[in-house]
Amino acid sequence: MVHELGFFIRGQWTNPKGRKRLETTNPATGEILATFPQATKEDVAAAVKAAKAAIERWKKTPPPRRGEFLLDAARIFRRRKEELGRVVTTEMGKVIAEGRGDVQETIDFYEYASGEGRRFMGYTVPSELPDKLCLSIRIPVGPVALISPWNFPIAIPGWKSGAALIAGCTVVFKPSSLTPLCGAKFTEVLEEAGLPPGVFNFLVGPGSTAGDALIRHPDVRAISFTGGVDTGRAVYKAAAERMIKAGLELGGKNPILVMEDADLDLVMDGVVFGAFGTAGQRCTATSRLIVHRAVYDELVGRLVARVKKLRVGDPLDPRTDVGPVASADQEKKVLAYIDVGKAEGDRLLAGGKKLRGGAYDRGFFLEPTVFEVRPDRRLAMEEIFGPVLSVIKVKDYAEAVAVANSVEYGLSSSIYTNDVRRAFSAMQDLEAGITYVNAPTIGAEVQMPFGGIKSTGPTDTREAGFTMMEEFTYVKTVYVDYSGRLQRAQIDTAALTGQG
Ligand code: UN1
Repeated sequence: MVHELGFFIRGQWTNPKGRKRLETTNPATGEILATFPQATKEDVAAAVKAAKAAIERWKKTPPPRRGEFLLDAARIFRRRKEELGRVVTTEMGKVIAEGRGDVQETIDFYEYASGEGRRFMGYTVPSELPDKLCLSIRIPVGPVALISPWNFPIAIPGWKSGAALIAGCTVVFKPSSLTPLCGAKFTEVLEEAGLPPGVFNFLVGPGSTAGDALIRHPDVRAISFTGGVDTGRAVYKAAAERMIKAGLELGGKNPILVMEDADLDLVMDGVVFGAFGTAGQRCTATSRLIVHRAVYDELVGRLVARVKKLRVGDPLDPRTDVGPVASADQEKKVLAYIDVGKAEGDRLLAGGKKLRGGAYDRGFFLEPTVFEVRPDRRLAMEEIFGPVLSVIKVKDYAEAVAVANSVEYGLSSSIYTNDVRRAFSAMQDLEAGITYVNAPTIGAEVQMPFGGIKSTGPTDTREAGFTMMEEFTYVKTVYVDYSGRLQRAQIDTAALTGQG
């Protein structure tokens, strides 16, 4: 049965008529799961208006009380974890264990963020003058736009909304057009948690129309966007025009460096999970394997044998290792990159084809693919966002770092080594927002900052961790003078030290 769903505005579900409708489908079977109206400019304006109307009350709700809503929502997410995990898997194709993990990440985040409501830290320092105190507090920026991608359709809305809500912002949430059903389920949980009407609003529509209207709306005071670099740049420009904050998490081309002393069994497990987990469709996915020549042949030989054995298929079947990619467009893009690799003369070591026959014909199933490439090739530089790993041979640590840093992105990175000096050097040398030691490039935890450098996004905001507050609050500096007289900073201070 196809569900006809709608928007959630001012605490009400609405399904406006006369809109073009968007279908969401299962990438493993082609089955239509639900349809949604596509928001017009007027729909966007109505959602922002609702968020604006709710802001004063929400802002004044003490942060620990806001945290209670998040904790209630976390409990509901926990209760509905299996159901929502299955929705994730059926709507975007990641294997069921990862579908559940997607929901778990929101549970973790909401629990963590609820506690941040009891810290909400500024700082207090002495003044240069007597009987005066200097402190800083955080103020929510106002209504915010959250635009989330399809690859973590519960987790990323969880990060973004958890931070925005605890900070005291009200929200208009627009998920990717590939995963509106996850967006609607997410919204249902917040509705059940009893958030006051207008605090959280949800609508669906293409980036070029609904998204554009949302980011340009004058009452939206910050934009949090995760997605591609081109859209990210447009969002950043729109934010700059109105001097508002933009939190951007964009592409990645994340390397694992393997040194000559690495534990190769450990490397194998890490690379397979990092490169082919979520069918390679993570911003943090391992897409480059940079290997010291001393262990190159052994590692690559073993890796290729293992990759060929990965089971691609029904993502709801717990025995499946790799599900379909998320859409026809994704499939086309990944296959086009495979052609680029072949055309540029990269050596195909495993995979490289669309899977056909039987149930494969109904979905977007690709073979896990490994290419041996030179560092200047397109497959070594550009984000593919699919199950394609590029392997690069290097002569030493210095060359490994130079290759790792030669791309435009800087989200995640990793080094496998047992040499403690190398490990600590890599923490400094790798140009990325995240570095793992002896673990793959994926698997960020909610209590730590998440974000990148270079084209991955501006460095002034980080999702998750206590740094999440940066995106949704501004710092207000407060001076309290309780001396009962005018005290002039920089002027009367001289008299105090006798240096006037
Ligand atoms: C993403 O791919 O955009 O670290 C987020 C990880 C996950 C989050 C990925 N916890 O791989």
